[in-house]
Amino acid sequence: MRKFRIGLGVTGGIAAYKAVEVLRLLQKSACEVSVAMTRHATEFIQPLTFRALTDKHVIVDDYDPANPDPIAHINFSQSIDLLLIVPATANIIGKFANGVADDFISSTYLATTAPVMIAPAMNVTMWEQPATRRNVAQLKADGVRFVEPISGELACKTVGTGKLEDVENIVAQALGLLRNGESFEDPHTARRTPNSIDLRDERFLITVGGTREAIDPVRFISNHSSGKMGFAVAEAARDRGADVTVVAGVTTVEPPENVKVIRGVSAQEMFDGVMKELPNVTVFVGAAAVADYAPVNAANAKIKKDDRDELTLQLKKTPDILANVSKNRHQGLLVVGFAAETNDVIGYARSKMEKKGLDIVVANDITKVGAGFNTDTNIATIITRENESEQPLMSKRELADRILDAVIEMRKAAQAPA
Ligand code: CTP
Repeated sequence: MRKFRIGLGVTGGIAAYKAVEVLRLLQKSACEVSVAMTRHATEFIQPLTFRALTDKHVIVDDYDPANPDPIAHINFSQSIDLLLIVPATANIIGKFANGVADDFISSTYLATTAPVMIAPAMNVTMWEQPATRRNVAQLKADGVRFVEPISGELACKTVGTGKLEDVENIVAQALGLLRNGESFEDPHTARRTPNSIDLRDERFLITVGGTREAIDPVRFISNHSSGKMGFAVAEAARDRGADVTVVAGVTTVEPPENVKVIRGVSAQEMFDGVMKELPNVTVFVGAAAVADYAPVNAANAKIKKDDRDELTLQLKKTPDILANVSKNRHQGLLVVGFAAETNDVIGYARSKMEKKGLDIVVANDITKVGAGFNTDTNIATIITRENESEQPLMSKRELADRILDAVIEMRKAAQAPA
């Protein structure tokens, strides 16, 4: 199972040393943590401490020539499941609330789509200032979660609210958010949804692309599939925390990163690859355009014309991967298929669902502009036994997320008491 990836942002306050303990506890909970610090934080604690504990470069300044990544704020922000700021000063809260991006952590905040959690620590008067209250309210409205500071004796010897919450509680809240998509007291926006890793317990196996059926060593039967739809499902499932394996035929686009890729160029090879992986997975998605027929015997040598005016190829049916997966399904496996049709789309899709024993079928009318092969968009209806949900023209990635939402719905329905 993939580890949670946490970007830990440390800003300049006395409580900065407590971020070390937060880091250790997250690591003990099998999280992979990358650390970024503000310049002022380094006055309180050395980056070396975090580097030694994470074995990674600690980013303070994007523009520092020692920084190994020239666009660190983009790469960092896009490779985390949570941005956690411990401790957060009034200054960083003010910057986040106002879209100021003048250092690494504030640029990362603007560049990430991951949920953000902030554990403030500051003097009580600073915490209670109307400016800070406004900024906190704004960030809550923007979907940021707060681990509220607690009351106690502060570093400045005054007593009041402003002390960093206990590190165990900060870590528990961060893990709770990541594991369950729990929201605390705060509303959240669509952009920073805690559902972003709602597939963490699932392992996906996805067929992608078109197959190629050999006629002889130089010729084959194939189709126009690009692999875009299947890879979009793989990418979306990966981003939502799932473990993803694809069995890819011929594709014209690159597979997403951090996805296991097995090649299965012919229908038979794809079938073999799928059957081998099937026992390890919880969701199967048949997104490949598998040739229904293949030459009975591929010639070993190049077929010559030999002055023939006609050539007859004898074809035999390929194994139906989707139907076989469904027939051999183990308990808990969800099976998702695609149906590309030109007429009576829903009718044919529903009969495919019955015939192949599918839980979800994604039906599209390939005669519509913006749907089908080689486009970046699709128009589809997501069909389950109980539901039919028409999706307007959208990117394949968006459609992939809607399909995954249907998977989540099915899991929830299976858990609900009858
Ligand atoms: N599929 C498969 N293995 C095959 C053929 C198809 O896994 N040998 C899967 C596809 O990945 C897709 C679904 O089955 O999910 C499409 O169904 P299919 O019966 O192939 O549709 P058509 O070829 O359009 O069939 P028909 O001509 O019967 O409509």
